[in-house]
Amino acid sequence: MAEFDVIVIGAGPGGYVCAIRCAQLGLKTACVEGRETLGGTCLNVGCIPSKALLHASHMLHEAAHNFEKMGLVASVPKVDWAKMLGYKDDVIAQNTKGIEFLFKKNKVTWLKGWGQIPAAGQVKVGDEIHTAKAIVIATGSEPSSLPGVEIDEETVVTSTGALALPKVPKSMVVIGAGVIGLEMGSVYARLGTEVTVVEYLDAITPGMDGEVAKTFQRILGRQGFKFVMGAAVQGVKTAKGKNAVTYRLRKDDSEATLEAEVVLVATGRRPYTAGLGLEALGVEMEKRGQVKTDAHWQTSVKGIYAIGDAIAGPMLAHKAEDEGMAVAEVVAGKAGHVNYGVIPGVIYTTPEVASVGKTEEQLKEEGRAYKVGKFSFMGNGRAKAVFQGEGFVKILADKETDRVLGCHIIGPAAGDLIHEVCVAMEFGAAAQDLALTCHAHPTFSEAVREAALACGDGPIHA
Ligand code: NAI
Repeated sequence: MAEFDVIVIGAGPGGYVCAIRCAQLGLKTACVEGRETLGGTCLNVGCIPSKALLHASHMLHEAAHNFEKMGLVASVPKVDWAKMLGYKDDVIAQNTKGIEFLFKKNKVTWLKGWGQIPAAGQVKVGDEIHTAKAIVIATGSEPSSLPGVEIDEETVVTSTGALALPKVPKSMVVIGAGVIGLEMGSVYARLGTEVTVVEYLDAITPGMDGEVAKTFQRILGRQGFKFVMGAAVQGVKTAKGKNAVTYRLRKDDSEATLEAEVVLVATGRRPYTAGLGLEALGVEMEKRGQVKTDAHWQTSVKGIYAIGDAIAGPMLAHKAEDEGMAVAEVVAGKAGHVNYGVIPGVIYTTPEVASVGKTEEQLKEEGRAYKVGKFSFMGNGRAKAVFQGEGFVKILADKETDRVLGCHIIGPAAGDLIHEVCVAMEFGAAAQDLALTCHAHPTFSEAVREAALACGDGPIHA
């Protein structure tokens, strides 16, 4: 048994960042993690491994489709799947070991095992009970399935199984056109799998700016994705190595079946709080299973805090990280803050898709007067040089004040470009501030400046 100032439960991006910040603020800190390695879903079976496979499959796509155009004459590389998975595992290991190093450097104690909270101020790991003035729940989320769909992580898989399939399947049905479905679908589509996405709604990536979603779907279609839209999956039947996915079309209630070697279930995630003992403690929960917190991430039980996917808000690693840092400040008696209005979202497909702030649909719904500045990557020399002239930057600004309200990008390096707009929004900038800032030439970022110019007197290259 040991005494700590803070015990963080869970070492994902929310938990490990929180623990490191707590230690940096002079608090005696422990972090409980039951996995063999630190980093949570994101580093072990999420963000990081998927980016490794996206990178490798993108390279293959470039070799197959663009090398010759650039005068690089070579035969298309063959896929050594075992080696590709090995590369992915190596990337995971480098990252998870990196967190272990940071824990040692910052003197965060790793309590190995699964944590439980027998009472406020106590955390049980294995047979030992440790005490802490503050406990932070950072236990993340787990994939949620559908009724009639049994996940075996072999041929009916979540993102976890999709990152470690024994071979590249010939066909895959992806249930859900959200971030996971489209990122993992991209990996396999580029490796030669026939990918069909079945989506309940009429547009892909719910919540995304409508214009971006439409362009995105068109581009993915050209990359070989097939889409069945407005279709509610009813169930999956597995027999003789084949899976039959039955869905019902919402428009006419007709039923149809698709066969595939592998089915990826990507219909969302739910908070993972089972086994913590929250019910016995009387910790209040939201209707959708998240832990209820106040403006300072404190639950209904004093001294117990919660952050990340376990609470309300977008299930994003960087949102969890920000909350982790903020709650550390709060526990240390300082003022922690997260600006929920400026949390970027990125989809790491090719092209990348990124957004921050309000969508046009949201502004319309709010009845807000706004203007749109749009610039196509066709007018960006750098984008054309790398075969990524498709897509655009769209900036939404207040009609009267010119203040930037949102930005939506589909195109090269969108996930990096978005951050200049995030900073602008944090400073309450006007579109003109972006437009008057010198941008190096030739860069993709010039497209952001041109979109900002389009909010005013107009872009130069359009
Ligand atoms: P999601 O919530 O993004 O998308 C799920 C999709 O499944 C929705 O479009 C929904 O309409 C559809 N769906 C639900 N039930 C259905 C049914 N019965 N039949 C057909 N379609 C159905 O969930 P996803 O992709 O599983 O991701 C989970 C979480 O992980 C998200 O919050 C996402 O933000 C996060 N994530 C973020 C990444 C990133 O930031 N790049 C990468 C991967 C995951």
